[in-house]
Amino acid sequence: MDLGLKNKVVMISGASKGIGKAIAGVFANEGANLSICARDEDLLIKAACELQEDMGITVLPVVADLTQLNDVKKFVSATVDKFGLVDILVNNAGSAPAGEFLKIKDEEWSDAWTLKFLGYVRLSREVFPHMRSRKYGCIINIIGNAGKQPMKNYMAGGHINAALLNFTKMLAHEGEQHGIRVNGISPGPTKTERWDDLVLKMSEASGKDPVEWEKEFLMTFPLRRLAEPEEVGNLAAFLASDKACYVHGTVVTIDGGLTKCI
Ligand SMILES: NC(=O)c1ccc[n+]([C@@H]2O[C@H](COP(=O)([O-])OP(=O)(O)OC[C@H]3O[C@@H](n4cnc5c(N)ncnc54)[C@H](OP(=O)(O)O)[C@@H]3O)[C@@H](O)[C@H]2O)c1
Repeated sequence: MDLGLKNKVVMISGASKGIGKAIAGVFANEGANLSICARDEDLLIKAACELQEDMGITVLPVVADLTQLNDVKKFVSATVDKFGLVDILVNNAGSAPAGEFLKIKDEEWSDAWTLKFLGYVRLSREVFPHMRSRKYGCIINIIGNAGKQPMKNYMAGGHINAALLNFTKMLAHEGEQHGIRVNGISPGPTKTERWDDLVLKMSEASGKDPVEWEKEFLMTFPLRRLAEPEEVGNLAAFLASDKACYVHGTVVTIDGGLTKCI
């Protein structure tokens, strides 16, 4: 299916690896131009080169730490300077500590909040006026199903995701007068480097060997496997396309049937 994303300008935060990079890959295949950010410059440039290769698209890599308001502003202004507009924003850069409740320090709670919750709020706020002036835009928040279905030893991640479910709804309401469509995606556990870190922390908190812990954990999954990052990317590209123009203010779960609540 041609999603009609050719030449669209797509900003993706945290796209040097993991889900963000996979999302960028799907948009690149559709012929969209990309603006991507992360903190590690070498990894970001490498990702930009790989994405640009053979696709005939333009990829702008912007080194930015999205816990810093100035860097959020820099990411948006560099994109607008380069491309003149922003069609699509994918808020993705985030991380939250896993582990035993009693061992998570105040700074870990607040760092996770500053990056994932405030980072999404700030980036949306900076991009909004550009979309509003053209009466066109789409924002997708990558959230996480622990927001709806709390997960043992992942308390800090769950509370941010719960807040982002609420934020996504209200941002959609803000956007509807101005042609800005807003949706979220809530992936279940997905095969990225971050997942490997989470396995270490959660197995430690349960007093189990990481390999054994993950094996047992996956046995509780209907499909007995993690999501692949590209599967999240495919959903993001569809939701961002005009094929999904009536999908607004909702959060789509992609977890292989893991979440059972209605
Ligand atoms: N993996 C899962 O199981 C899973 C499940 C549900 C939801 N999610 C959500 O999906 C999103 C991506 O997760 P992932 O597993 O792909 O993570 P990942 O593999 O750790 O990748 C995170 C990306 O964000 C960037 N990043 C981290 N901190 C940043 C900061 N302060 N400023 C700018 N960029 C930053 C990283 O690059 P640098 O480190 O170089 O900055 C990297 O490009 C997150 O919001 C996560 O909560 C993941």
